[in-house]
Amino acid sequence: MTSPVPTKSGTVLAVASGKGGVGKTNVAVNLAVALARLGRAVALIDADFGLGNVDVMLGLSPDNHIGHVLNADKTLEEIMLPGPSGVQIVPAASGLRTMTSLNASQRHRLSATMAQLRRSMEFVLIDTASGISDNVIDTLQLADRVLLVTNLDPSAVVDAYATAKVVTSSCRAELGIVVNGVRDAQEASLAFRQLDVASVKFLGRSMKYYGFVADDPAVRAATLAQRAVVEHEPQSAASRCFRILAARIAGMGPAPGQAPRLGLGEVPPPEVSQCA
Ligand SMILES: Nc1ncnc2c1ncn2[C@@H]1O[C@H](COP(=O)(O)OP(=O)(O)OP(=O)(O)O)[C@@H](O)[C@H]1O
Ligand SMILES: [Mg+2]
Repeated sequence: MTSPVPTKSGTVLAVASGKGGVGKTNVAVNLAVALARLGRAVALIDADFGLGNVDVMLGLSPDNHIGHVLNADKTLEEIMLPGPSGVQIVPAASGLRTMTSLNASQRHRLSATMAQLRRSMEFVLIDTASGISDNVIDTLQLADRVLLVTNLDPSAVVDAYATAKVVTSSCRAELGIVVNGVRDAQEASLAFRQLDVASVKFLGRSMKYYGFVADDPAVRAATLAQRAVVEHEPQSAASRCFRILAARIAGMGPAPGQAPRLGLGEVPPPEVSQCA
């Protein structure tokens, strides 16, 4: 008797935030490309279903989108297109109001799509819309890990906590924090600790720190050039951050955990101060 062929099962990692505009799409796109450059098979799903912009960020002009799959008009193979470094892109619709709230059969097909991608990919990254709409929560429920992105803006930190609360109560996913748009590790640590203190006090659990992304004009330049910054300016500070983040997610770096504890006057090593 032959033993069954084990089913490959990739990790589904969703990028979310409470407040909009904190850098989710940039994080999702660049992590996807950085993971692909580590030799991993990666798909990137634009789950901002009605107002997607992963395609715009990568200078792609898809004819079809995930709405066609969720409405059973097309197969996943028909709508997926190759992106930078071999990342398989699943684009979203732009300006399609019917996609702003998925019905039961669309949700069922979304779950089936994710299961299909899991079987062929090592990482399935999902870029979500901001906030805690039903669409977002339905999507996060399909993820193994949720990376919550915040910046230093106090309202972004408060909204990140509010989102963490909802994710904790309605999803099985492991939650991790990425602080975007900061000067260095100390600044990132500050935002993370505010979130962690609130989480320990009110949710009874501590948050996992994944790392940060430097505030970097190279990101803005890459956005304008419609390219991932890790390809457009690989030597930039932000690109180094994305590579460290990708290595950590791929299990090649230090495990996600607490933010670095830097005492007064303690100078972190350069790579740590820029990205850990
Ligand atoms: N680390 C960074 N340094 C400099 N600019 C950044 C950085 N991260 C993001 N940006 C800029 O911030 C803007 C918003 O980024 P992005 O679209 O990724 O946010 P978002 O959270 O996906 O927004 P939305 O909630 O609308 O989906 C973009 O113009 C981007 O270039
Ligand atoms: Mg976005």
